[in-house]
Amino acid sequence: MNINYNELMEEAKSASKNSYSPFSRFAVGAAVLTSDGRIFQGCNVENSSFGMTICAERCAIFKAVSEGYREIRAVAIYSPNSDSCYPCGACRQVMYEFQGDNEEIEVITENMGQLEINKLSYFLPCGFKI
Ligand code: THU
Repeated sequence: MNINYNELMEEAKSASKNSYSPFSRFAVGAAVLTSDGRIFQGCNVENSSFGMTICAERCAIFKAVSEGYREIRAVAIYSPNSDSCYPCGACRQVMYEFQGDNEEIEVITENMGQLEINKLSYFLPCGFKI
């Protein structure tokens, strides 16, 4: 598979434009690449009942899984409000659930216009799976 992470980051950027974040004013977009080469976008969606908020990464992952795409290769994350927008702990664990058996998920972030590429295990060593 020809993986273009610049393209995936562009998808995350465009997804961040749909962010509903009136409470934190911190917009996030994510783009998930599945092993089939499909891309799913997500954004953070906040709620007046703050705990109901969902992060951009989980939004994108759940869209992929709910459409039948369970194996994730890469996740790009972007915030217009911050360089290097790293995934929260909950999203790291959700990514781990949908990692393929043979290849680690790559997490793509951006710092001062440069892509950063890290394996999921950098963010979540010893992930939990039943
Ligand atoms: N947020 C994400 O969308 N992804 C992360 O990995 C970190 C946090 C969102 C949740 C909330 O809407 C806002 O950023 C501030 O925490």
